[in-house]
Amino acid sequence: MNNDIIKYTEINLGGSEMKIVGVAGELTGWKATVVLHNVLEAAKDFDSNIETELIEMKEYNIEFARGEPLSYYSDDTWNVVNTILSADILVFGTPIYQASISGALKNLLDHFPVDAFKRKVTGIITTGAVEKHFLVADYQLKPILSYLKGLVPSTNVFVHSDCFSDVNEIIDDNVKIRIRALSEEMVRLQKYVVSK
Ligand SMILES: Cc1cc2nc3c(=O)[nH]c(=O)nc-3n(C[C@H](O)[C@H](O)[C@H](O)COP(=O)(O)O)c2cc1C
Repeated sequence: MNNDIIKYTEINLGGSEMKIVGVAGELTGWKATVVLHNVLEAAKDFDSNIETELIEMKEYNIEFARGEPLSYYSDDTWNVVNTILSADILVFGTPIYQASISGALKNLLDHFPVDAFKRKVTGIITTGAVEKHFLVADYQLKPILSYLKGLVPSTNVFVHSDCFSDVNEIIDDNVKIRIRALSEEMVRLQKYVVSK
């Protein structure tokens, strides 16, 4: 075991305050929001000191990014961008549209400067109806988060439409296990980052 791995396993998980913000990048529907809610709950189960907040993009009027300073945009745009910047851990959830992320989420990410996610862990949730599109997380969203200097966990969670009940509850136990694993990895990674 090298030194880095020893340090990783010896991190003290108690005490410190940490904020995790989920961002649901859907303007209609609920699946990404439901999964994100579960991710935030799992993070709190893992460490009760964690503060959580869920941003549902459908609740805000985010302006199209025009490459201008943030002060030129609406209050909604300003508030959402700054709430995201206040997070220690971010987890982005998006429905898969046309083999990619939602346009709404891409537009939101266009508002951030390079380095915006430096020293932040940035997790990924995707929901979709085509099994093969689990790859969208790695090939479409991960490069954007990495470009913004986010630390992307080794796991992400894709949830197929069949894993939801008619009332949009997650009914697949494997999905629940993956959600808990992602939450735990994000918290452990962030504690490692702040310990350096
Ligand atoms: C315009 C549009 C494009 C879509 N494209 C894809 C796709 O390429 N791959 C996929 O897996 N699902 C695709 N879907 C299905 C959605 O990703 C899936 O139904 C999503 O989880 C919807 O969540 P909701 O019911 O909360 O809206 C698409 C849906 C829409 C409306």
